[in-house]
Amino acid sequence: MLANIIDGSSIPSFVINKQHRVTHWNTAIEALSGIEREEVIGTDKQWRAFYTEKRPVMADLIVDGAHVNEIKAYYPSRYKKSHLIDGAYEAEDFFLDLGKNGKWLHFTASPIRDNKEEIIGAIETLEDITERKRAEEALHESEKSFRALFEGAYDAIWVHDLEGNIQTANKAAAELSGYPLEELLMMNVKSFLGDESLNLAREVGRRLTQHRYVDTPSELRLIRKDGSEAICMVSTNLITSDGEPEGFQNIARDVTQEKRMQENLRYYLQEITKAQEEERKRIARELHDDTAQVLGSLSRQLDNFVRKRHGLAPNEVLFLKDLQAQLNRGVQSVHRFVQDLRPSLLDDLGLIPALRSLVKDLQEYEGIGTSLKVVGGEKRFSPEFESLLFRIVQEALSNIRRHAQASEAQVVIEFAGDKVRVTISDNGRGFELSGGVDDLPRSGKLGLAGMQERARLLGGTFEVKSTPDKGTTLIVEIPR
Ligand SMILES: Nc1ncnc2c1ncn2[C@@H]1O[C@H](COP(=O)(O)OP(=O)(O)OP(=O)(O)O)[C@@H](O)[C@H]1O
Ligand SMILES: [Mg+2]
Repeated sequence: MLANIIDGSSIPSFVINKQHRVTHWNTAIEALSGIEREEVIGTDKQWRAFYTEKRPVMADLIVDGAHVNEIKAYYPSRYKKSHLIDGAYEAEDFFLDLGKNGKWLHFTASPIRDNKEEIIGAIETLEDITERKRAEEALHESEKSFRALFEGAYDAIWVHDLEGNIQTANKAAAELSGYPLEELLMMNVKSFLGDESLNLAREVGRRLTQHRYVDTPSELRLIRKDGSEAICMVSTNLITSDGEPEGFQNIARDVTQEKRMQENLRYYLQEITKAQEEERKRIARELHDDTAQVLGSLSRQLDNFVRKRHGLAPNEVLFLKDLQAQLNRGVQSVHRFVQDLRPSLLDDLGLIPALRSLVKDLQEYEGIGTSLKVVGGEKRFSPEFESLLFRIVQEALSNIRRHAQASEAQVVIEFAGDKVRVTISDNGRGFELSGGVDDLPRSGKLGLAGMQERARLLGGTFEVKSTPDKGTTLIVEIPR
């Protein structure tokens, strides 16, 4: 009956007696070891199932009542005393010669005792744990590589629970915050976020837990250990376990430098634009008060001279009249320069009349059917605002004149509640803008890029829509 029980078990097992001779060797261990029972029963060759050279297996050690130290000597790291059975030991080991690529086995050997508690044999059962071990190893490997990724990341990464207590953080997070890692791991995010950022972070957290849309990354201001401020772009992800929110994972990039540079750049651009306007004003004034006056007075003197004749021959009169006509054209073009440089209308009457004169010029001098449409209640703005907007439209119209070959153009200004929208469109030949507006200055084209810069200076946006043969539309939107 015992033989049948052992044999019927699907767990690879064998039994040895006090003399270390195999008494039972079941079908499952035959399959595992590839050794048939006829080959081993009655012998002490059980080791052949596991090793290439003779040595005790766990059951042999148990039969001999071996001391722990002895067991340890044979199974150095992976042995354990059984909790369940007195005198039994279990261990895990890798057996290179089993199967094709070796196998991991978990095995337990228990003593068999007679009525007088004397050990008369041992039973050893085995379990093939290769699959589990391989999976464990793979998991361990992937964990290791993720750890390395986490530790070595350039971005600061930390995880905090729903209350904001930091649970794990990487080196970059320590560097960014200025707190040593050990200290950081005891902290709450509250202690290094300013009020505004904390509110924003809380809002993001709330939305994430409600599975609502979150516009990430968000710009947060971190207060470092030394009190200084770091501006970060932070992406946050919800961590869940069985569908329940558990915490948040955050990845932050320090953009303080970029931010400062951007602010500086913007400041300089602002200053440069202002300086440019001042310079234009000055040149316009000089052209108007000086050059135009001189030319005008010359023209008048010529006129007087011709009128009084002084006995001039007819062809001499013609010559002088022609000179005067040339001079007048010069005066006119100086006046146009002055208008372009600093339309006095902008100063005197404001944006809309100044734009009207630009539109009229395009219509009159270039024969392009141009209109100006004003929608909503017209307002006056600060001189900087008006001159930036004026320059944008001026450049747009100059592009239409130079590039579009259009028959019609339109400028629309809409004053809505919280913004001003300017749309400049033409029905000309259009163009392809492959690299975006930012790439144009590299090839010496400053018009569109300048418009975009001016729109940004006003805190607004600039959009170019152009299709070859279908015309061009520029849209500037500026918040008020
Ligand atoms: N309304 C338009 N119709 C057709 N093509 C245009 C129009 N506006 C711009 N373009 C095209 O886009 C290019 C870039 O315009 P942009 O104003 O930046 O430079 P530019 O006019 O060539 O030179 P700059 O303005 O610096 O004197 C132009 O060279 C032209 O090919
Ligand atoms: Mg241009």
